[in-house]
Amino acid sequence: MDAAEREALAEMLEPDLKPYHDRFARHRSLPQQGRGRDEVLAEMREMAELERDRWADGFASGAVYNGDPEHVAFLDDVYALNSQTNPLHADLWPSITKYEAEVVSMVAAMLHGGTAAAPDVCGTVTSGGTESILLAMKTYRDRARARAHGGTRQPNVVAPVSAHAAFDKASQYFGIELRKAPLHADFRVDVDAAAALVDDDTIALVGSAVQYPQGVQDPIGDLAALAAERGIGMHTDSCLGGFVLPWAERLGHHVPPFDFRLPGVTSMSCDTHKFGYAAKGTSVVLYRDPDLRAHQYYRTADWPGGLYFSPTFAGSRPGALSAQAWAALVTIGEEGYLDATRRIVDTAQEIRRGVAGIEGLALHGESLFVVALGSDDPSLDTYAVLDAMGRRRWSLNGLQSPPSMHLCVTLRHTQEGVADRFVADLASAVAEVRADPGTGGVMAPVYGMAASVESRGTVEEILRTYVDVLFRA
Ligand SMILES: Cc1ncc(COP(=O)(O)O)c(C=O)c1O
Repeated sequence: MDAAEREALAEMLEPDLKPYHDRFARHRSLPQQGRGRDEVLAEMREMAELERDRWADGFASGAVYNGDPEHVAFLDDVYALNSQTNPLHADLWPSITKYEAEVVSMVAAMLHGGTAAAPDVCGTVTSGGTESILLAMKTYRDRARARAHGGTRQPNVVAPVSAHAAFDKASQYFGIELRKAPLHADFRVDVDAAAALVDDDTIALVGSAVQYPQGVQDPIGDLAALAAERGIGMHTDSCLGGFVLPWAERLGHHVPPFDFRLPGVTSMSCDTHKFGYAAKGTSVVLYRDPDLRAHQYYRTADWPGGLYFSPTFAGSRPGALSAQAWAALVTIGEEGYLDATRRIVDTAQEIRRGVAGIEGLALHGESLFVVALGSDDPSLDTYAVLDAMGRRRWSLNGLQSPPSMHLCVTLRHTQEGVADRFVADLASAVAEVRADPGTGGVMAPVYGMAASVESRGTVEEILRTYVDVLFRA
């Protein structure tokens, strides 16, 4: 794609991505005189109101995991109390370092750290799942470097093809080769294939509990045993499942061990800002012991600006977000998480039964709380169904290899009538596509292109243009 083609595409994308261009004041440079606070707040309130119904009424996959008005109002109060804090200044705000240490400790305990089998589990608070994963990968790379005493090596990580894109991002950022292991038909990684990819330069294995596309749990026990046998790291990505699986297990669901109970698991990621029900902007990365965690830290003793260290990528950080995470965890408590998990799993199973009854669609993978589905009828285009669901206000996640989509069930979907509405809308979307297979949409053609290796470069250009448009003022 050349610059002219990108511009033409940008102009096509702009009306959808920038609906407020003509509706609210635009600031391409600073207003000469500051605007009144009341006026600005009124404008921001109007936009928030315009956007609220779609997520609040449960039309979104994932995105807002709790969203209960009282819970949100409480978190807003917590933010207001702590909005000026920054854990970089531990002397000014010891409250924030207390909150962060306790968030890490509570999440570690939930994942069986601090037990006789894993007494030294430790970690840090990060800005989200992606940062937790990037940091864990950097940690293994730096440990390998330290062990190799500066010798050259091209480290690699072996991960299922279903592992989150953040692992690929880590490989691009940190010069780590990512070796992707294939999946079985049930979408769980093929451990023998993973084992065949391990060599002397492998620094870590990855498994997900659960993975994003189908919400299924990899055979973490087998991966951890393989890692232990080869003496390498093993990261369980529980960004999505970490706050669901422990409670689902207590509720009697079948949840094979995936956490620090397995001796081979050396690190984990677990998102407070998903099913931990904190506001967006926090996650926890955990390590089996402090010596491994130390490879994550940045510290320097010869900077003219003074002795400096930071545990994560950022320097200054929003302490208010850590305070919110702490406040969410301690107000919800074990009973709150058990109750939320019960409602979510029940709703997901109800939706799965509904989807199973729609002719032409098949469920993909066994999952406690993700509903992944695709067409099993060659005359029914999965992505046309995804587009038709979009016209019914649903914001679902498109998936590929195989063509499919998913609904990640949250507390928003446990509201009265949402599960039925999803199933009814899906049945009507399928009927619409069957009646008019050429029905217009944007996802179908783009996913169609991404499926062919020759046009993948073009799709990456489309993605670049999409991001460019997001940043157009
Ligand atoms: C399994 C898994 N890992 C990692 C992530 C990345 O999390 P974030 O979007 O918070 O960076 C996600 C996000 O959905 C996920 O589902």
